[in-house]
Amino acid sequence: MPVPNGFVSYDKLKIPEQKFELACFFCDDCGLVQLTKVVNPIVMFRNYAYVSGMANVMMNNFSNLSYGIYKMLKLNKKSLVVDIGSNDGSLLAFFKNYGARVLGIDPALNLAKIAQMRGIPTECMLFNFNSARKIVKKYGRADVICATNVIAHIDNLHAVMKGVDQLLTTAGVFVTEFPYLLDLIEKNEFDTIYHEHLSYFSLKPWIKLIESYGFEIISVERLLIHGGSIRLIHGRKKLGKNTHLKTLEYLISLELRAGLYSKKTLLDFSSQIEILKLDLRKMLANLKKSKKRIIGYGAAAKGNVLTNYFGISTKILDYIVDSTPYKQGLFTPGMHIPVYGEGRLFEDKPDYALILAWNFADEIIEKQKAFRRRGGKFIIPIPKVRIV
Ligand code: TMP
Repeated sequence: MPVPNGFVSYDKLKIPEQKFELACFFCDDCGLVQLTKVVNPIVMFRNYAYVSGMANVMMNNFSNLSYGIYKMLKLNKKSLVVDIGSNDGSLLAFFKNYGARVLGIDPALNLAKIAQMRGIPTECMLFNFNSARKIVKKYGRADVICATNVIAHIDNLHAVMKGVDQLLTTAGVFVTEFPYLLDLIEKNEFDTIYHEHLSYFSLKPWIKLIESYGFEIISVERLLIHGGSIRLIHGRKKLGKNTHLKTLEYLISLELRAGLYSKKTLLDFSSQIEILKLDLRKMLANLKKSKKRIIGYGAAAKGNVLTNYFGISTKILDYIVDSTPYKQGLFTPGMHIPVYGEGRLFEDKPDYALILAWNFADEIIEKQKAFRRRGGKFIIPIPKVRIV
């Protein structure tokens, strides 16, 4: 599989793309699911196509996260909030509005520049123990460290925890969000498995990791975002004190009941995906037979996984529309499906749009009322193929 954000320009279409193994390991001991092969992060993240600020759902989530933390810690102008994987600075902009000092950390040069231009100080680097030390020297310790949708991108989880331990004040909090393995398995979200995501977390292995660095979970919340995520707030464990969280116990019991720590569950999941592949291919082939024109909606990384794994090429999808200016005019990795702006949907009037960015399906369907009004239909591939 090519790297899922490796969009190709027209002049490079003839050059064979580099492909990398995409498969998962399951740890019999702690239950963590991880990729078998790690692609060099610089290949994937130096020029990163994913921009946080593009979707309302994301912005609402950031707004909600920052407000909760602001109230919880009573942040003021002395407080320092650091965001790991700060992208275009969207989350930190909220904290800045609450009057806190902010600092972004991101290895993507293109995004660090965007963030700096909007007034969010950003260090362009990977996060680990050494960079944490540099940050402490230059800016002091952080009262809040956020890491949303980034920890699963990092191979050395111990380096992250050492960095967090180094950078966080004694009373500070470490907030993280990541897609939840329970949702992935229950909702057939196989296409969220790609090279950028090295770990697929459930709570059991996560707790093992953070406890070994003296942290504990002080709040846990399930979120709808990205097909189902989890938001965890951590603090340093106080000697002799153990925060008892009923929600945490409940979620672990759900994980057990779903068989998340068993190899059989994961093998069954894999069979489910083969069924999904047959269902979707059959539906698309029937539509093509009846001369319907189909396009893709959202050139998401997960969409590139789905089209490659299911073999959905330009014979089926004429093109994909996407709101990200950077992706427009390029071709998707592997399948080489051309990407255009969203406006093309209305001008061109295809019959069906396959929503590849299914995590934003509601937002997209709401936005494209005009397309639906004149008979256009949406296909949502996951958890089960359906037409809207
Ligand atoms: P993601 O699933 O990896 O977050 O990517 C979502 C993709 O969908 C991203 O490339 C932007 C695109 N998108 C649209 O084209 N229109 C929209 O209204 C939304 C919300 C996303």
